[in-house]
Amino acid sequence: MTTEKTDRSNLIPFSSRLREGRALAQDVWSIFNAANLPADCINLGQGYMNFAPPKWVTQGAEEALQSVAPNHYSHPKGRIRLREALSNFYSPRFGRKLDVDSEILVTSGQYSVFTAFLEQGDEVIMFEPFFDQYLPSVTFNGGKPVYVPLHPPSKDKAHPSSGDWTIDIKEVRAAITPRTKIIIVNTPHNPVGKVFTRKELEDIAAVAEEFNLLVMSDEVYDCLVFDNNEHVRIANLPGMWDRTVTVGSAGKAFAATGWRVGWLIGPPSILTPTLAATTRIVFCTNSPLQEAAACGLEQAEERKFFETQRDEYAERRAILTNVFDELGMVYSMPEGTYFVLLDISGVQFPEDYPFPPSVLGRGRDFRPCWFIALEVGVSTIPVSEFYCEEHANIGEAYARFAFCKDVDTLKRAADRLKNLKKYLK
Ligand SMILES: Cc1ncc(COP(=O)(O)O)c(C=O)c1O
Repeated sequence: MTTEKTDRSNLIPFSSRLREGRALAQDVWSIFNAANLPADCINLGQGYMNFAPPKWVTQGAEEALQSVAPNHYSHPKGRIRLREALSNFYSPRFGRKLDVDSEILVTSGQYSVFTAFLEQGDEVIMFEPFFDQYLPSVTFNGGKPVYVPLHPPSKDKAHPSSGDWTIDIKEVRAAITPRTKIIIVNTPHNPVGKVFTRKELEDIAAVAEEFNLLVMSDEVYDCLVFDNNEHVRIANLPGMWDRTVTVGSAGKAFAATGWRVGWLIGPPSILTPTLAATTRIVFCTNSPLQEAAACGLEQAEERKFFETQRDEYAERRAILTNVFDELGMVYSMPEGTYFVLLDISGVQFPEDYPFPPSVLGRGRDFRPCWFIALEVGVSTIPVSEFYCEEHANIGEAYARFAFCKDVDTLKRAADRLKNLKKYLK
């Protein structure tokens, strides 16, 4: 009998697919997590609200929990009440009567679209900076991400807007190969706040048409467009309905990011295979919160909820941008979303500051973001994380501030941010 203990902590090798799509890298969210930062640090990093969804919306969930059917499996397409509410809400926005059986799919993510459409080695174009979840969703399904950067505003622009982040359609064309299958468009855009213009979307649509691409239009922030900017849906451009799937989210719409209720809108040719995939991945999305989302959409118009919510966010945005103005710092005024990018390239910090190894090994912007979190007490997200390694230097000048927080918190954060003054060049 041997007394030597064998190491049983790693008996089964995990799949090599986790080595792709940065799935194993320590993600930025856990580095800039509350647990790693001082307890009183104000978290403007991760994009979730520190306030509750409206009562008249959560009431829908409470009622659902008290009844029988909504505690059980939903139809994999989503609960009919929610699909009907989505059809009523979105049909006018898409200029067509959306069929609840074949043109709306309630899901908890975009993953199933990639499962349904990607063959091994198919390429997916995404604009950088990009929402980090796209990457593993593509690679886990055998796809290859191809990056096209948005170009930041020129440095001599004193008051840039998110609209000054531009695409070069020639670069999109140059990125196309015979393997290109999908292009992801995200408008309003996380983290830039850009609302793509009709012209930009027309240019992308022309490329999609010419090369027969599926367009995934991630519009989860469609209810957060400021200053009378026009939210153009690429699916509504001539010929684009047939090749576009549009993504929406109850999490963003009703301040309920933990619900995991989202939806896809598109033609049956895209949603039928996607339904087949999602049914085998998760079967259905949680039922009671679908009822709550339905309740929200049913009443939103009458209550002018989205207009009020947008105005509240505009007020929150102003709390941050006013303090940046006071500091003389340059930021891109967001046309949409609840994020603002601040140019932090002028923030000075001691090179020998005790940065943890998780920060030192990353883009340069991780250091000023860490420094600001510790010395000023406001945490943000370094924007290089939203780029591939090759293009990370474009993002390194910026920190992303999330203003999906209550006014009090933002005012406290603004007060603290005034202390940045002493660290500016
Ligand atoms: C651009 C973008 N798409 C999709 C999502 C995912 O939305 P949800 O959390 O509702 O699944 C997010 C969340 O931050 C996002 O920023």
